[in-house]
Amino acid sequence: MSNLKITGYGDDLTIDSVRLGDLSPAEHENIEKEKGGQNYKPLEDVVVSHVKDSSTLICRKPSDNDVEAYVEEELIDGLCCYSAVNQGQLNQEIVDAVIHHLQKEKLPTVPRSIRHKYMSAFLLAATSITGMDKVVPKVSGAESWELTFKLCRRWGYQVKQIPKNECIIVGATGNFHGRTLAAVSMSDDPDSRGEFGPFLPGIELVPYNDIDALKKLFEAKGDKIAAYSVEPIQGEAGVIVPDDDYWPEVQKLCKKHNILLAMDEVQTGFGRTGANFAYQLFNVQPDIIGCGKAAGGGILPVSFVAGKKEIIDTLTPGSEGSTFGGYPLASVVGVYAIKTLVDLKLAENARVRGEQLMNHFNDIKNEFPDKIKETRGKGLLTAFEMHDEKQLDGHKVSVELLNQGVYAKETHHSTVRVAPALTIESWQIDNMAEKLHKVIKEL
Ligand SMILES: Cc1ncc(COP(=O)(O)O)c(C=O)c1O
Repeated sequence: MSNLKITGYGDDLTIDSVRLGDLSPAEHENIEKEKGGQNYKPLEDVVVSHVKDSSTLICRKPSDNDVEAYVEEELIDGLCCYSAVNQGQLNQEIVDAVIHHLQKEKLPTVPRSIRHKYMSAFLLAATSITGMDKVVPKVSGAESWELTFKLCRRWGYQVKQIPKNECIIVGATGNFHGRTLAAVSMSDDPDSRGEFGPFLPGIELVPYNDIDALKKLFEAKGDKIAAYSVEPIQGEAGVIVPDDDYWPEVQKLCKKHNILLAMDEVQTGFGRTGANFAYQLFNVQPDIIGCGKAAGGGILPVSFVAGKKEIIDTLTPGSEGSTFGGYPLASVVGVYAIKTLVDLKLAENARVRGEQLMNHFNDIKNEFPDKIKETRGKGLLTAFEMHDEKQLDGHKVSVELLNQGVYAKETHHSTVRVAPALTIESWQIDNMAEKLHKVIKEL
């Protein structure tokens, strides 16, 4: 029998004799190393303790005078949980909706085997914002992509009549769709694949942004290909924006070969790139999309698949499901995440503030062309890439930025992504850029 004793909240939360407020950043790190899996390498010497406002984190750093102690400092959040917090931290309207729901409406969790009224609200809101016929709720981004993948296969067999077990889904090199076995089966990143095989068959990759390669593959194997499943802008790869005519050309090819265009909008959706969904920037219409991250308003994990009727209708009772996909509280959060996207005009703010940030990036690049190689982005999904030299190290930039009070993170050795909340204000962008300028100058 365990004698485990848990008491208190916040800093007073105490697990047996360990009180959270007494732990230094180094002690937190030790606990994570001793008791947790090492699948992340968080920035050293910093522990976030709470948020101050929609774009400011309060973090604890070691005290200069006492190794056992810490000091609290403000950090501008330049990452907003990889675009999960587009609506800003603790968005008041979403928080109010959650509190109201739990205290007044009183329906947190029931299974999908009994109908609840909030599902209707979520389906109405999600079909309306995406303009798609039907929506299926899930929980994580990876699950939304994986369900998209499964639906494309079903459509391939049932509608396109691909012979049994011969269906191919095409992906792009450099993709990131999450960490499930299907997602890493499509990945070409050795770190996420190593010793996790054997992988899922029926996947082929083409170079991203290479229309000729896609054309060649579709001509060779189009009869067996159900979908081209891709990110409209590649996020984890370092914010790779394809040529303006790439997506319209892809769409034409997909139509010609009766192949679905399936887009992963988990990171690019919900206003991030200056449009509600990134595909809208390129004037194309995918057949099915997967959303996650900001679909939960920075409060709960909420994801969903939205698509054409003929694709979603391949689902039958028992063929798919998720305990927490669309449970009442998630449905409410999902509705309010959409409401704030619309009411706060987040896409428009991302466009305007994104331009402001890119102007700063370009000024820095022009001043230090020997250091900054390229700036990239749409809306507030932005990145700068440094030249491939040892001292131009993305991790070092992240650490130096942290010392200046900005949280941003490298994606590869020499690329740093900056993607703040879409509620960020003009002065905060200027402030962030000023600190970035200082860091780059001193590299
Ligand atoms: C494009 C894309 N798809 C899927 C995922 C996976 O989302 P999650 O981590 O919520 O499973 C991510 C996460 O970064 C992503 O960027």
